[in-house]
Parts: sequence; structure tokens; C-alpha cells
Amino acid sequence: MAGDIEVGTEKGILILTINRVNKKNALCEDMYSGLADAFEQLDRDETIRCMLIKANGDTFCAGNDISFFLNGYNMVPNAPVGRFLYGLAGLTKPLVAAVQGAGVGIGLTLLLHCDLVFAAEDIRLSAPFGSLGLVPEAGSSQLLPALIGHRRAMEIFLLGKVIKAKEALAYGLVNEIVPIAKLHETALNAARTLAELPAEAVFETRRLTRKPSEALSKRIEEECKVFMQRIASEEVQTIFKRFLTRTR
Ligand code: COA
Repeated sequence: MAGDIEVGTEKGILILTINRVNKKNALCEDMYSGLADAFEQLDRDETIRCMLIKANGDTFCAGNDISFFLNGYNMVPNAPVGRFLYGLAGLTKPLVAAVQGAGVGIGLTLLLHCDLVFAAEDIRLSAPFGSLGLVPEAGSSQLLPALIGHRRAMEIFLLGKVIKAKEALAYGLVNEIVPIAKLHETALNAARTLAELPAEAVFETRRLTRKPSEALSKRIEEECKVFMQRIASEEVQTIFKRFLTRTR
């Protein structure tokens, strides 16, 4: 299933494509490994200047795979999810995202680690952790209130508010709304611009404009602890099983 994350390169850009279209690009264990491996490649390879993340199909990412939540989900640092979360928080090179359709849970919270986000007109961003019986992850308990304010973050986390294009732009969650037909090209052009700039200036600008990743790692550690406690609860197990056996 590592093929569900496609990895390619183009002139200094590492291009990741989420490709599990039949499951709305929900992330399962091997996909976290694929993403974490790509983050390591990004850091290691001196010819790579930035990364672009995009998705195939009508949905950017439906969040974590609910079956995975029920079976083997583990956030310790050396497990695939942990490697992904800490890798994301520790990135040293810019990350550009192209988003269409729904971005749920990690499909929204990973955007908080991106430096440029381009979105299609049909985006629907949400992180309904409250109704799932969960808590925010990926440093989003720190990053989302810092970006959009505490009360707006509470609407998203606890009231399950879905953010559409106009609001996402007003909140600063995305840089630009573009027609779907131009989405990938627009994001790629931005990545090309980054890749051609003096590399050290770009990396240092990113480092200087982001909060120290050490503090964010501590926050992720704390989130992971509470998140795993929540998953183990009977309440949350029931919510996940209900999703998997729903009738449509
Ligand atoms: N985990 C596992 N499977 C998922 C999934 C997830 N997070 N999200 C979607 N899928 C699967 C569905 O079960 C369905 O599979 P099936 O065809 O084998 O039954 C398939 O993807 C299509 O999903 P569907 O719900 O029919 O698509 P939709 O276009 O009507 O809705 C979403 C798309 C993303 C809005 C909806 O699927 C959804 O809300 N998913 C759950 C999101 C979530 O709670 N994620 C966890 C966040 S922490």
C-alpha cells in the first residue's frame, strides 16, 4: 500500500501525491510510512529545495483511516504515525499544498505545517475531533488557535464546523482559491519559484518565521498521549465502529 503515496521529483521539488481515491485518501499505516520516508528524503537530499503535497480524486484527505484507528494505531515516535507527526513538525524545507474537496482531521491539520496552501473552490476543511471523542493532533492544538484564534478553533474542533473556500481564505488557512483545473499547476508553479530562490535564504526564512520545533514537538507528545487514551476508550471505539457499519 506504499503505492498509495506516490513520490516523484522535478527540478529540486519533491512531489508527493496521495492516491487512495476509493477510500477518499484516508491515511493508513503504510501511507504514514511513505510520507515519513519522503520527509527524511527532503531533509537528506541537498538537491531538493521544497516539497509539494497534492492528492488524486475529488478529496484531498478524509483523515486517518477509521479501521486503522481500531487496529494497531500507535503514535509513539518510531511508529509510522509518530515518524510522520514528528517529521512534519521538524521539516527544514518549505512545504506547498494543493487541496481540493474535503480535508478532514489530519487532512486539515497537516496544512498547518505548510508554508503555501492553494485550494480549489470546493474545499471543505474540518477537524471534528470532539464528535469523534478525540482531541486535536499534529500540533494543531497550538497551531490552529495561533493562526485563526481560539474561538474559531473551538468551532472547528468541538462544534464540527466545516470551513469552505471563502472562510478558509479569510481565516488565512489558505493563500489562494483557484479553479480546480488550475490547482495543481498553480501550486507547482509556486514550488518552482521556491526551488529557484537562493536555498539557504529560503530555509532560514522558514526557520525564522516558524515557532521553535522543539516546543511544537513537546505539544505533539502531549497530544499523542491524550489521543491514544481517547482511542482506547469504549466511547471512541463505538463511534468508529458506527462509521464503519453505517448504512448509506
Ligand atoms: N477511514 C476509512 N474509510 C473511509 C474514511 C476514513 N477516514 N473516509 C472515507 N472512507 C471510505 C468510506 O468508508 C467509503 O468506503 P466504501 O466505499 O468501501 O464503503 C469510501 O471511503 C467513500 O466514502 P464516502 O463517505 O462514501 O464518501 P463521501 O464523498 O460521501 O464523503 C467524506 C467523504 C470524507 C466527507 C466522508 O467519507 C467522511 O466523513 N469520512 C470520515 C472522515 C473522518 O471522520 N476522518 C477521521 C478524522 S480524525
